[in-house]
Amino acid sequence: MTETRPVAAPRDDPASAVPAIELEGVQKSYHAYGETVAAVRGVDLTIAEGEFFSLLGPSGCGKTTTMRMIAGFEEPSAGRVRLHGQDVTDVPANRRDVNMVFQSYALFPHMSVFENVAFGLRRRGVPKAEITRRVGGMLEIVDLTGREKRRPAELSGGQQQRVALARALVNEPRALLLDEPLGALDLKLRQAMQVELKRIQRGVGVTFVYVTHDQGEALTMSDRVAVMNDGVIEQLGTPREIYEHPATRFVAGFIGTSNLLEGEVTGTEPGSAVLSHGPDGRIEVPMRHGREAAEGDRVELTVRPEKICIGLDKPGDGLCAVRGTVTEVVYLGTSTNYNITTSAGADVVVFLQNATSAEDVAVRGDSVWLSWDPCHSYAIGAPQ
Ligand SMILES: Nc1ncnc2c1ncn2[C@@H]1O[C@H](COP(=O)(O)OP(=O)(O)O)[C@@H](O)[C@H]1O
Ligand SMILES: [Mg+2]
Repeated sequence: MTETRPVAAPRDDPASAVPAIELEGVQKSYHAYGETVAAVRGVDLTIAEGEFFSLLGPSGCGKTTTMRMIAGFEEPSAGRVRLHGQDVTDVPANRRDVNMVFQSYALFPHMSVFENVAFGLRRRGVPKAEITRRVGGMLEIVDLTGREKRRPAELSGGQQQRVALARALVNEPRALLLDEPLGALDLKLRQAMQVELKRIQRGVGVTFVYVTHDQGEALTMSDRVAVMNDGVIEQLGTPREIYEHPATRFVAGFIGTSNLLEGEVTGTEPGSAVLSHGPDGRIEVPMRHGREAAEGDRVELTVRPEKICIGLDKPGDGLCAVRGTVTEVVYLGTSTNYNITTSAGADVVVFLQNATSAEDVAVRGDSVWLSWDPCHSYAIGAPQ
C-alpha cells in the first residue's frame, strides 16, 4: 500500500481533526459449509470528516463486508472500528451514528414521498412542525420539491434513488454509507446521479463512504479512493494518484487502460533504474516508495496510453525510447488509438489527441519509435 494522505480538513472546525471513520487491522472471515472464507484480510484506513471516500474493487473483493463492519451489521474477526474517535467495535448498529443506503433501497410503496422521508423522524417522535421543515428542506436538496404526494411507483428510478437518499440524510447521520446505490439504474441515469450525489454531498457536508465496482464512478465523485482486491487495499489515494501512479499490477489493470512493459536493469542511479527493452530500447523508471533494483533484475512497469508519443525518428536523450511495429490504427474522432508491438514483444496502446494533425502519424506496418518522459514510468509489483 502506498502512503495514505488524508485530505485537508476545514481549519475552522476543531472537531474535524478527529477522523470520521477509522479501521485498524480489520479482518472478517466467514465459516460456511465447512470452509473458511477470508472476506476481509486486514484493512487499515482513515476517512476524514466531510470526505467523499470510495471503496472500489471487483465483485467479491470484500467491499460490502467492510461497509457492514463500519455500520455494525457485521462483527470483525479482528481489528478495531472507530467512529468520530470513539471505539465502536462492540457497539450495535442502531447505536452508531451512521446510515446505510443499499442498491435495493426498498421505499415503502404505499407511502407518499413525504411520508417515506418522514418515517424515521416520526418513529423518533420528532415534533410535527420540525418534521415538515426537515423533510421539506431535504426534498429541496435532492430536487424533489413538488413531488411530496407522489407514490414511489409514480417516480423514475433516479427520483426513487433520491428519495432513498433523502430518507437516510434527513436523520442527519454523521456518515452515510452507500453500497452500489446506483447499480440498478441505466448508464445515462447513473452518470447524471453521480454528479447529483456529489452535489448533494457538498451541500450537506456529511462524510460519504461509497462502494462501487465501477472505476469511472469512483474517479468522478471521490476525494479519495481505496482500491480493494481479494480482501486487502492495494492502493489508497486521490483519483489522480491512483490513475497516474498505479502502485500495483492489479490497480494499473483495473483502473483505465494501462500498458505493461518489462525490462532488465542495465544501470541504476539513486532513485531510478535504467532498463533494456528489446534491441535499442531504453526505459528509465523512477524507483518510488522505497523500491530498489539491482543490475540484472527484471522490472515490470506501466505507462498510460496518453503519455506516449509516436515518431519515425529516434527520440532525444533523456526520454524513454522503445522500438515497435504498428499493428492497428483506429480513428476515434477526438483521438486516434494505435496498437504497437514492441521489439521485445509487448503489446502497447497509445492514444493520440487529434488536436492539430489532420493525418495519422503512422500507418499499420510502420516501424516506429515510442517515447515518453521517464516520470510517466511506474514500476509495479506486489503491494508493499
Ligand atoms: N455471510 C457470508 N457468508 C459466507 N461468505 C460470505 C458472506 N458474505 C460475504 N461472503 C464472501 O466474502 C467475500 C467478500 O464478499 P463481499 O464483501 O460481499 O464482496 P463485494 O461487496 O466486494 O462484492 C466473497 O467471497 C463472499 O462470497
Ligand atoms: Mg457488495
